[in-house]
Amino acid sequence: MKERLKLLASSAATLVALGAAPALAADPIKIGFSQGTMESSWRVNMVEGNRKYAEANLPDVKLLITNGENNASKQVSDVESLLAQGVKTLIVSPVTADALTPVVKRAMDAGVRVVTLDRKVNTDVTLHIGADNKLIGRTAGEFVCKTLNGKGNVIEIQGTAGASATVDRNVEFRKTLAAKCPGVKVVADQVCNYVREPAMRFTEDMLQRFKPGQIDLVYAHNDDMALGAVAALKAANRLSGVKVVGIDGENAAYEAIKAGDMVATFTYHFVAPEGVQYGHKVAKGEKLPKEIILPTHQVDATNVDKWIGKGF
Ligand code: AHR
Repeated sequence: MKERLKLLASSAATLVALGAAPALAADPIKIGFSQGTMESSWRVNMVEGNRKYAEANLPDVKLLITNGENNASKQVSDVESLLAQGVKTLIVSPVTADALTPVVKRAMDAGVRVVTLDRKVNTDVTLHIGADNKLIGRTAGEFVCKTLNGKGNVIEIQGTAGASATVDRNVEFRKTLAAKCPGVKVVADQVCNYVREPAMRFTEDMLQRFKPGQIDLVYAHNDDMALGAVAALKAANRLSGVKVVGIDGENAAYEAIKAGDMVATFTYHFVAPEGVQYGHKVAKGEKLPKEIILPTHQVDATNVDKWIGKGF
């Protein structure tokens, strides 16, 4: 726990993986892991899952971990610092696609193998691993059409602007509503960076703007923000009229579905330990596909019992 707090609190450009060091090989393979932000428990799980796996199973790996603190410029400097330290493979979960693209391209041009996790960049990489955000956006759209019987008003709480996950979850959701249930309208939206507090404040504002009966559903790009919306709706005594949908598969979201406070979430893999497992294979020159797509599942009142306690 102390180690995790140290990792979260540090603003240093590079954090060498902390904790009880395994007996490292004499000349370990250096793998850099540039995490975009540690603001959500989903991302803490991504870092910790990969770090622990490397410590326990990959004695020939030295894993260097950085935290971009949800700031794309900081993350670009982190990547530059990892490259300067001679990493053989660079694992990166980019805050935003455009900002990280040039530095990733430079890394690829210099012969460093790059593995992107969850969010993408706009240039070729050695391997991308993650769940399919376009599919999630589409499936969420279909679920909302059905849940609202083709008619109603939706508030969309978006993740970080310019992150590929945000773009896909937004664009595919909107396209699906337009094609399958034009009677469902998104009446307001806001970027809340995948963080609970801003989502809660945004929902409070929306409850001032829209009177009871004017909002039918909140679609949030992750469970942290969906749970923020639930808290605001409960505090205003308005939850009974509004359905809430999230993404990620947090245990708290499963409990909320069970209690009737949320109607659905879509599981979103935090790519651990796959990130470092495949980063290691890539560093060793194993032939792999260009993309590994991890599964996603819809969890709602019909199947939540079998998911309770199986999230994070
Ligand atoms: O990029 C995807 C999102 O980033 C996850 O769904 C979210 O919880 C995280 O911060």
